[in-house]
Amino acid sequence: MNSPSERLKVFVASPLPEAVNRDLSLHFAASIAPGADPVAAMSGSAIPYEALLVGVDCPLGADVIRRLPPTVRAIATYSVGLDHIDLTAAAARGMAVFNTPDVLDDAVAEVALLLMLGAARRATESIALVRGGRWTGWTATQLIGVQLTGRTLGIFGMGRIGRKVAALARAFGMTVAYSNRRALDPVLAAGAQYYRHLREMVSEIDCLLLAAPSSADTRGIVNRELLACAKPGLIVVNIARGDLVQDDDLIHALKSGQVRAAGLDVFAGEPKIHPGYGDLPNVFMLPHIGSSTVETRRAMGQILITGLEAWRDGKEAPNRVV
Ligand code: DGY
Repeated sequence: MNSPSERLKVFVASPLPEAVNRDLSLHFAASIAPGADPVAAMSGSAIPYEALLVGVDCPLGADVIRRLPPTVRAIATYSVGLDHIDLTAAAARGMAVFNTPDVLDDAVAEVALLLMLGAARRATESIALVRGGRWTGWTATQLIGVQLTGRTLGIFGMGRIGRKVAALARAFGMTVAYSNRRALDPVLAAGAQYYRHLREMVSEIDCLLLAAPSSADTRGIVNRELLACAKPGLIVVNIARGDLVQDDDLIHALKSGQVRAAGLDVFAGEPKIHPGYGDLPNVFMLPHIGSSTVETRRAMGQILITGLEAWRDGKEAPNRVV
């Protein structure tokens, strides 16, 4: 543990779990200011902050990054996703950027399975029936869904989280395919069939899992043209970022039956959700809780602490992205 004078001065601008705030305060001279405007708060303070810690709820565009006080030389994001940070602007200012890879793979993969099952087994309609007091008893015709067992899962973005989902899906008796820019080493692919083009994969699979980061190449990739190539009755699951999906096109396909059901944890423009989803019984939605477990939240804080301390000591940190 460093003496108080050696501790990094870190400004925490997003609300984090109490246990994480405690961990941060043990390691850093941390100012915990959930919801604060980081530029105004840090510029108006006498403390020469060295690092800014934010979550995905605190976007750091180029204009914000340019206005951060000159003492701030590192940004730590309490997320694996980086799309809320302008990395080019951070690099231009010579800032180091840290995120939280690896530690959330299990939690997010579990939510992927929850979404797949919720979509396939009509959870939205089932919950509404029971909670609405309208259930009149078992019948053989009630809320018939489809099984995952024996079906093919196609993973768009076979990184660490995608591979974790693949392992869980195999335990459900699913066959796995994937689409990435490049084929994986066979050991990592573990028998999953590779498709260079997502368009080719969607015609062969029963469930599409979106697990790729949001980027210029992936935004809007699930659109009318792609869905027209899909095997009828496809299930679409999104654990990545909402903007991978053209909402109007997915809603249209959900209404026509071209897409059987969707399981969505993330939304374009969240927390606002396209109103078209709200009316659809075949959409199972969660409020971006992929990484939200006690274990993972704590681990996300720990990996940022380790990364920032390594940086302060002039060492390499595996979670440094810039
Ligand atoms: C991430 O880490 O990017 C999640 O979406 C938020 O925890």
